[in-house]
Amino acid sequence: MTYFGSILEKRMARRDFLKGSLLTLALAVSPSARSLPIPGQRLRFQPAVGNTADQLTIPDGYQFSAVLSWGDPLFPDAPAFDPYRQSAQAQTRQFGYNNDFVGFFPLPHYNLATANHGLLAVNHEYTNGELMFPQYRQGQPTEEQAAIEKAAFGLSIVEIRHQNAWRYVRDSRFNRRITAETPMRITGPVQGHRWVRTKNDPQGVVIAGTLENCAGGKTPWGTVLTCEENFHNHFANNAALSDGDPRKAIHARYGIGDGASSYGWERFDPRFDCAQEPNEPFRFGWVVEIDPYDPTFVPRKHTALGRFKHEAATAVPARSGQAVVYLGDDERFQYVYKFISRKRINSTSRRANFDLLEEGVLYCARFDEDGTGQWLPLVFSHGPLTQENGFSSQGDILLDARRAAQLLGATEMDRPEDIETNPETGKVYVALTNNTRRTTANAANPRVNNSYGHIIEISERGNDHGALHFRWDIFLLCGDPNDPSTYFAGFDKEAVSPIACPDNIAFDQDGNLWIATDGQPDTLGINDGVYAVPTQGFDRGHVRQFLSAVPGAEVCGPEFTPDNRTFFCAIQHPGDGGTFANPTSSFPDGKAPARPSVIAITGRGRIGAS
Ligand code: FEO
Ligand code: CA
Ligand code: CA
Repeated sequence: MTYFGSILEKRMARRDFLKGSLLTLALAVSPSARSLPIPGQRLRFQPAVGNTADQLTIPDGYQFSAVLSWGDPLFPDAPAFDPYRQSAQAQTRQFGYNNDFVGFFPLPHYNLATANHGLLAVNHEYTNGELMFPQYRQGQPTEEQAAIEKAAFGLSIVEIRHQNAWRYVRDSRFNRRITAETPMRITGPVQGHRWVRTKNDPQGVVIAGTLENCAGGKTPWGTVLTCEENFHNHFANNAALSDGDPRKAIHARYGIGDGASSYGWERFDPRFDCAQEPNEPFRFGWVVEIDPYDPTFVPRKHTALGRFKHEAATAVPARSGQAVVYLGDDERFQYVYKFISRKRINSTSRRANFDLLEEGVLYCARFDEDGTGQWLPLVFSHGPLTQENGFSSQGDILLDARRAAQLLGATEMDRPEDIETNPETGKVYVALTNNTRRTTANAANPRVNNSYGHIIEISERGNDHGALHFRWDIFLLCGDPNDPSTYFAGFDKEAVSPIACPDNIAFDQDGNLWIATDGQPDTLGINDGVYAVPTQGFDRGHVRQFLSAVPGAEVCGPEFTPDNRTFFCAIQHPGDGGTFANPTSSFPDGKAPARPSVIAITGRGRIGAS
């Protein structure tokens, strides 16, 4: 059995085990299955207390260290971090800014028995010029600053190793920076579409770079999916398009403004100016797939997964063997989606799966009041998705997926952020971070002025990710437990930690849900943090705080090593709200400027168990 095959089967096996299938009996004695823990392991750590200190806090018995920080040199020839001597060339060879998604890929090559050596694939979502540069004017960067910012976007893929402590390997042959200029291929129905053709790319097949890479996911075949979220911030002058031009309404729907962009890159690079390159925005807002084990891999923007402000891409096998990818569009009143591939996952060849996400059906979710729901297909000429409604092809639908989903009657949600599947039960969890503009509640978004956010639990029919019908429940209604509108799956509110604005989520191998937050300073008056909550048994809903971060920072990218003995997360934009000259955080080095960092947390054994 290949290691890759065993990952797939482990995923399937843990779910089938619950049903007592014969397949599982065979797998129960396989090496990967033998190391599985007893299901339902309880969380036993002493909770951290939320606070506002510029000091990251975790429970007694745990340690953390910054493994990778903004500016760390990733190659032997890269210069050391020096905030007073930045250059685009240096930044292209250093760890980027605002780390978000973190994926651990074991070495050697996707061997899940390894937990002390691997690659980290890390998103760099955006830049804070006011925190990065000694002199900076918002929206009016110098040409050099704009070039440095472009180089600080994208991803880093970096080899790391644990020998007493986690450290990155500076001369690894795997290390790679991907930026706002790295060439990428367009796959799927939008490849060559008239609206992705530009002066630089008249065929509409190759895109320069990726932007606003927020969360993402790992595929069962060992690639990373990285999600382009708030790309609209980079594009200027939608007003230059004529009112009769259908592109203008789509750009507006996706948030592109009439005037200058918030980054101001259009001052130096015409592709960010809609007056000069009205199609460039259509080349962003996609899910991008990258093989982290191959530094020469040309990233692929998979248009079959639709264009929106992608937060997460969680890939799991359907019972049929097709690949399912759960997707969220993180904006107020936007939708939850999933994609089902046409072809089945090949469990003997990783590479045979690299085109799996090029072809399939995208669905949007409708959550009905009675606790059931349906996945509705975004397919050209089906239902309202016709020429009468302005769609002439599947490409048209994918480019404007938001309007297609609206026409289908998808449920408007309170900002869908991360989506994860429970390895123990197969249930699907959707983090809805907040929506203070909601004035009308519905069953799945039950609070108006929802400033604290909530989490929904989906049970696909037949426990099959390929199903088109589901049941759903509210799992958490976040907030201060003294607030009567909160709900913690029925658990005694006296015993839970206050929590707000759930953003990125992850499961440990026992099916406990780990939640990273983004928005607690403005809601609960404490730093953002990480929380753990059991999803089954008598402790279901018992939310406890595991980590409190530092001022200005959100926490992203929760991720475990396969043995669950290390927990990684990303401390993003520490010191946000301050400036380079007036810092509000000195994380992690105790000196300014603060540096966004990926940290590793270890303890006495499995994370959370003691
Ligand atoms: Fe980039 Fe939805 O957070
Ligand atoms: Ca996020
Ligand atoms: Ca966020």
